[in-house]
Amino acid sequence: MRLPVNLLLSMALLTATASAATSWPNGPLQTKGRWITDASGGRNVTYVGVSWPAHGETMVPEGLQYRSVASIVEKVKSLGMNAIRLTYAIEMIDQVYENDGKDVPIWDAFVAALGKENGTKVFGEVVNNNPEFGESTTRLEVFDAIAAECAKQQIYLHLDNHVSKASWCCNPFDGNSWWEDKFFDTENWLRGLSFMARHGKRWPALTSMSLRNELRQPLTNTTLYRESYNWQTWYKYTLLGAKAINTLHPDLLIFLSGIDSDTNLTAVVEQTALPGTHKFSVNDFNLAKPNKLLLELHTYITPRDCPSFKETLSKAGFGVLAGDSGLEIPLMMTEFGWTQDATTWDSTVYAKCLREFLPEQKVGWMIWVLAGSYYIREGKQDYDEGWGLVTKDWKAWRSPEFIEGGLKPMVKKTLEGLAIGGTDDDGEGRGSEEGGNGGGATATTTTASSGPTSTSAASSWRGDREWVFRVVLMCSLPSYLTYFACW
Ligand SMILES: *[C@@H]1O[C@H](CO)[C@@H](O)[C@H](O)[C@H]1NC(C)=O
Ligand SMILES: *[C@@H]1O[C@H](CO)[C@@H](O)[C@H](O)[C@H]1NC(C)=O
Ligand SMILES: *[C@@H]1O[C@H](CO)[C@@H](O)[C@H](O)[C@H]1NC(C)=O
Ligand SMILES: *[C@@H]1O[C@H](CO)[C@@H](O)[C@H](O)[C@H]1NC(C)=O
Repeated sequence: MRLPVNLLLSMALLTATASAATSWPNGPLQTKGRWITDASGGRNVTYVGVSWPAHGETMVPEGLQYRSVASIVEKVKSLGMNAIRLTYAIEMIDQVYENDGKDVPIWDAFVAALGKENGTKVFGEVVNNNPEFGESTTRLEVFDAIAAECAKQQIYLHLDNHVSKASWCCNPFDGNSWWEDKFFDTENWLRGLSFMARHGKRWPALTSMSLRNELRQPLTNTTLYRESYNWQTWYKYTLLGAKAINTLHPDLLIFLSGIDSDTNLTAVVEQTALPGTHKFSVNDFNLAKPNKLLLELHTYITPRDCPSFKETLSKAGFGVLAGDSGLEIPLMMTEFGWTQDATTWDSTVYAKCLREFLPEQKVGWMIWVLAGSYYIREGKQDYDEGWGLVTKDWKAWRSPEFIEGGLKPMVKKTLEGLAIGGTDDDGEGRGSEEGGNGGGATATTTTASSGPTSTSAASSWRGDREWVFRVVLMCSLPSYLTYFACW
């Protein structure tokens, strides 16, 4: 008698555990007015997370020469975060099509981007940290491994098409800016979205995809800029892109990105007429399942003060949350960020204001960027990323001050504001807050973050962007002259 009872009990337990595990992410997620909920509609869900780039020249997710996939996901989890925004280039899918449907092994990808010597070396280091990978492992299999690890650690995975041609992003001169720009072939883009949506069906952690990162002015082709940089073109392709994803994977949430480097969704949220008389309408998307659309914004500016910054953000898109124009749709801030040193997070208007504003708005957000370094960026190999949450070797936090004093509290405040109690197995996720890096990590980080490399890396990135914004805004939006004059 005893044995069967025990057996029954353990079987019951097993079943319970299995169903708890398979119930996460309680999807498909859906929108409900300005909120996002799980499948039941009774529980708020949002993302608090970080971008993990995989759209650089190698098209391999960054950092794996320093850490394992599992330990990187764990590091994100230790912040209390629940989401990763994984970026990719359409070029990866183009190469799959050129290669009879087969993806490129990471060994070849590293050699192609880094040269034979360094490519071989970096490949070796990646396999050292990730022994499950080998010479035949392809880039998409690395994506698969990340998706599997996210499911295991209950991290929502968001796929972001960052560029067409794999490279550092984004300025209006890089050929990746707008539909039909030099590298931005519309057909290939749609094919790429469909491919990733279909491929992503095997990833339980995948809950959403975006259409395109930071749509912006195609300034290398003035004809294209004059003729097509407008809301009409935006709407036409946004409808097609959303359809491409929704047809192949109807469960996913779809993020719509604004113009002007995703800082402007004014025509959508104010329900002002797109050129002609037609207005943005969720019904135009005609999706297989309704309640799948949300808006995403980025912000990288140097605001004068917090109230005016909030006003700018409200005009850019956050106004939608008030529902004043009749459109009720969620919004997320999918990029913002700053130099990860000891003080920026708590001494600039931009950082301080966003840290307050986002939880206050009860929206999801993903900070730029996780990466402490890139295999290659703008021609420089093993590029040190001063904006990375982690150090160059991806082992410690670059700014422990921000992590403890700013980021973790912001995560907590956001989730609490939406009454989201972390993951299903509460406590466990929170309990690991200190993660695998205690005091020792702090010491390392301090040295790394005060190094001259990280500072210049950050300012070059930021300088590039700010310069472009100034030129573009001053040329095209005279009303902004006063605003930007005070920079
Ligand atoms: C190999 O990588 C190192 C940095 O790790 C870099 O300094 C060197 O220039 C690279 N070699 C080539 C041929 O690019
Ligand atoms: C510029 O854009 C126009 C309009 O799309 C296109 O016809 C033309 O070929 C483009 N020029 C170049 C140099 O790509
Ligand atoms: C967005 O762009 C439109 C022009 O298409 C402009 O009228 C509007 O002021 C811009 N909004 C913001 C917040 O920059
Ligand atoms: C989501 O959170 C908001 C803000 O706290 C709340 O008003 C709303 O009722 C919540 N929705 C659900 C389904 O819990």
